[in-house]
Amino acid sequence: MDHFALVDGELFAERVPLARIAEEVGTPVYVYSRATLERHADVFREGLAGVERKHLAFAVKSNPNLAVLKVLAGRGYGADVVSAGELDRALAAGIAAHDIVFSGVGKTETEMRHALAKGIGQFNIESEEEGRMLAAVAAAMGLTAQATLRINPDVDAGTHAKISTGKADNKFGVGLHVGPGIYQRLSQLPGISLRGVAVHIGSQLLSLDPLEAAFGKIGELVAHLREQGHTITHVDLGGGLGVPYQAATEPPSPADYGALVARVTRDWDAVIQFEPGRVIAGNAGVLLTRVIRIKPGIRDPFVVVDAAMNDLARPALYDAWHDFEAVRPNGTRMTANIVGPVCESGDTFAMGRDIDTVSDGDLAIFRTAGAYGATMASSYNSRGIVAEVLVDGDRYAVVANRISPAEIMAAETVPDWL
Ligand code: LLP
Repeated sequence: MDHFALVDGELFAERVPLARIAEEVGTPVYVYSRATLERHADVFREGLAGVERKHLAFAVKSNPNLAVLKVLAGRGYGADVVSAGELDRALAAGIAAHDIVFSGVGKTETEMRHALAKGIGQFNIESEEEGRMLAAVAAAMGLTAQATLRINPDVDAGTHAKISTGKADNKFGVGLHVGPGIYQRLSQLPGISLRGVAVHIGSQLLSLDPLEAAFGKIGELVAHLREQGHTITHVDLGGGLGVPYQAATEPPSPADYGALVARVTRDWDAVIQFEPGRVIAGNAGVLLTRVIRIKPGIRDPFVVVDAAMNDLARPALYDAWHDFEAVRPNGTRMTANIVGPVCESGDTFAMGRDIDTVSDGDLAIFRTAGAYGATMASSYNSRGIVAEVLVDGDRYAVVANRISPAEIMAAETVPDWL
């Protein structure tokens, strides 16, 4: 459920007409709904009611906007971060350092030192080499880093290849067969305190089966590690729950997911950690755009909008589907190709799509753009960086200014020897 709906024939975000935002802020612009973010945060937590001891860390990579993070902090969420930049954002949004988990295969020494100095709650270590580096960095600071070892369970998440992370040939985590040995060796080191394991097999999962398979393997590993004398207090189950980009897609609900987790982890006797991203932020945002012009095509017309692949990269990268709707639909439909102005054919949002009829100058939205939208924007074709707005009831605020092409150019220097 979200709060982007027609009121008297016109799309609103909560109680603010999208046309007003377009008028005052310009397009393209991401629009987030606070009520939707909060609802999703609460529904996800309620789904996990059967999991006694838990920790929820919002995956900052899905939407790192400070205002969005502040909303989620207000709902009791910690953060899952993958860089010093994300860590600083989470802290700036008021998330306590001990509620932050640091994931990712390429943490640098500098990032480790920074995170330790801030008092971060946990590192999810992705290799023995990384664990050794972390132990050395922490020991040199006179600290002990709390950590889990990320396991690659070799399970096919059944999602797009580029967002699958749990197959043996993916770069993430360590294999199940080598996990216990690495765990044993790392736990001997000063500077690091291993307290459990982590797993994340992919994103936009539309079935619970691969999760059940992965969690089953993790449960067996936890038992095995305990038999070896290790104390396991935390298990991080990552994120990954899919969202309905199309009405016909029915991802498992947070309640179904929560029931699975409660059943599988019943005897684990550990704090179960979660890193949801898309399921919280996806449907809480839309990309508002204006039709520049309609250009005839061989079969269907091209609707050229002022948003492009540099603003919303998902269709170009993952052939992703985002529903397209007119802000003031006139009740008729057309079949069209929806494209942006960027000079490559990959800048295509949809081909031969049945959409609301739109004309030059009309406003429209791409739905389900709140996760992995603005954060993946670039300035390709020197188009500037898209603005972001947060709506709250009948008010809104610009929560990220548009960065103009001139501002980006100002960061460049031509050496005086040219
Ligand atoms: N935890 C870890 C360790 C992750 O790698 C990810 C996502 C998450 C949590 C959050 O997953 P979520 O709940 O959002 O599925 N740019 C791609 C998605 C990349 C996801 C990367 N990792 C897209 O636009 O579909």
